[in-house]
Amino acid sequence: MTDEKPMAQKLFHWLFVLGFAGAYLSADDDTLRLHLIFGFMAGGLAVLRLLLFITGPGSWHGRELNLSVKDLKTYLLRYFHKPALRGNPAASFAAVTMLVLAVVTALSGYFSADSHTLEEIHEAAGNLFLFVALAHIAGVVADTLFRGSGAYKQMVGKSTVQWPMAVLVVLVAASGVLWSLSVDTGIYDDEHGEREHYEYEDYDD
Ligand code: HEM
Ligand code: HEM
Repeated sequence: MTDEKPMAQKLFHWLFVLGFAGAYLSADDDTLRLHLIFGFMAGGLAVLRLLLFITGPGSWHGRELNLSVKDLKTYLLRYFHKPALRGNPAASFAAVTMLVLAVVTALSGYFSADSHTLEEIHEAAGNLFLFVALAHIAGVVADTLFRGSGAYKQMVGKSTVQWPMAVLVVLVAASGVLWSLSVDTGIYDDEHGEREHYEYEDYDD
């Protein structure tokens, strides 16, 4: 897992970061269009990445992950002893959790117009996503500082491009953006459906 990742995978990583950060920072009525653009991009990229764990070549494939709970425990409890483990279980769990949360957040956001429950799930999943992303960043910083692992280098710097995968990543990100532009933001208005009206129900008539 410390192997150099191709540029296409780094491109995926930073576009996904952009999608998530953009969606999180624009999560407001006034910037809903922007929110949908970034949100669809992150959601689309997450679906692609999860599929690539099953079918992807080389470092994209799920066999690169270490999802052993036992190894995760060892990693965390013996952190400074640098136990010899296959890959980085904490990074693997964080990655899968973030990707699944991105799909749950985007889907619940998409269908949130008429469902208070989905709106709540959307907000909760979005915030949980932020929490795991911050933990992931803290993990990369800690591994770099305390274990001299040079972990961050996996996602920065030059490497083989892997053109077909780079094109696929860009196409999926662009499709997400295009799809988001076809969505009528009006359906998410306060006036529509149940959104934001719960507190005022008594005044409806
Ligand atoms: C990974 C991507 C996304 C993240 C992290 C995210 C996060 C959030 C968060 C945290 C809020 C709560 C804002 C607040 O009320 O304080 C929110 C609101 C909302 N999100 Fe998303 N979201 C994402 C994708 C989407 C998508 C794809 C849609 C598709 C329609 C969407 C639709 C909405 C809507 C309609 C609101 C309510 C906005 C408002 O009325 O203020 N979101 N989002
Ligand atoms: C909002 C911020 C971030 C999100 C949502 C995020 C998300 C992800 C995801 C989904 C993966 C798995 C990628 C894959 O397997 O192809 C990953 C891996 C990785 N990320 Fe991030 N990331 C964020 C910020 C950062 C930052 C600031 C760095 C610092 C350079 C970083 C460094 C890495 C590294 C080194 C890996 C590979 C870990 C491994 O496989 O052992 N990430 N990240």
